[in-house]
Amino acid sequence: MKAKDFMFQSTWSAPSNIAFVKYWGKKEIQKPMNPNISGTLSECRTQTQVKVLKSSNFLLNFSFEGRQNQSFAEKLKKILIKRIAPELKFDVDKFQFDIQSLNTFPHSCGIASSASFYASLALCLTEIENSLLGQKVSKEEFFNRASFLARLGSGSASRSLFSPFVSWGDTSEEFSHQIQIEHHAFQQVGDSIVVIDDSEKKVGSSVGHSLMDDHIYREKRLMNAKKNYDSVLEALQTGDWKEFINILEKEALELHALMMTSNPQFLLLRPDTIAVIEKLYSFRSKNNASIGFTLDAGPNIHLIYPLYEKELMLEFVEQCRLEFNISKVIYDEIGGEPKKHEVFGEIE
Ligand code: PMV
Repeated sequence: MKAKDFMFQSTWSAPSNIAFVKYWGKKEIQKPMNPNISGTLSECRTQTQVKVLKSSNFLLNFSFEGRQNQSFAEKLKKILIKRIAPELKFDVDKFQFDIQSLNTFPHSCGIASSASFYASLALCLTEIENSLLGQKVSKEEFFNRASFLARLGSGSASRSLFSPFVSWGDTSEEFSHQIQIEHHAFQQVGDSIVVIDDSEKKVGSSVGHSLMDDHIYREKRLMNAKKNYDSVLEALQTGDWKEFINILEKEALELHALMMTSNPQFLLLRPDTIAVIEKLYSFRSKNNASIGFTLDAGPNIHLIYPLYEKELMLEFVEQCRLEFNISKVIYDEIGGEPKKHEVFGEIE
């Protein structure tokens, strides 16, 4: 690389997030059909570095965990050109982008890596945009801009810019915002991901979202989602774990019910997903525990619980390991934040 070709580089990491009220169905360019709310994870993160070099046309090199990934590079190129570049305040056709990325969590384990990836990429692009334009912005403007750009990559990624609880699609569909929760009951929340099946997803979220366009339950879903959104917010504000879990689980099952009743239909739950959920119902009532579950578009279970019940959660997971085929469990917590890095590869 000639020294004069090099323009700028930026390295950021961003956490993944788990939705409590799901974004399912979109309109226009990556805007949600319904307001949704999530918790931002801590340990499950993606780090991305973007190097920008002068070029006579748009070029993209992408590597993931040290290896060139051509198929993802093609997908990323389309998203960059079609959705992100038209919104950037500089001309991507004048640059080569060398992007490298790594995850702190295993692939296909029920954790949305697209959310953390596009959030980290958007942070790099926002920093590069400001540098190329020589503009200074406030912290709030910076993160709102990054959330806006992240949304264009993957809708749920717009939520990974804020923490601990984040809402998207209520006051603004353009970008997400943090929700201030004062109640002590939700100050420390755990998310343990019980991985039942770590094979590749059978339905990409873009296909899933599009199936909502003429879904037979579309209108009902939009009404329910709005109601659930209001109820989850209220439960968080009043510290009501029982009601929070009630809605959390309804949302998870409703997401899967929508997939099962779409055309074509998708059945992503595995027998052990159901077995673990049924075991949780009885474990919870026996131990008077506040451990709830949610699901993404896959068979793996997120156990959401107040951290003071960690021992109980571990006991439950131990029992599940003895009874069912659990491939791994990832222990995380709500409350991580995006971070700027000087060196790629050093994530701490
Ligand atoms: O951001 P996308 O397009 O990958 O969609 C995410 C969809 C769900 O994970 C199922 C729900 C959500 O709100 O995160």
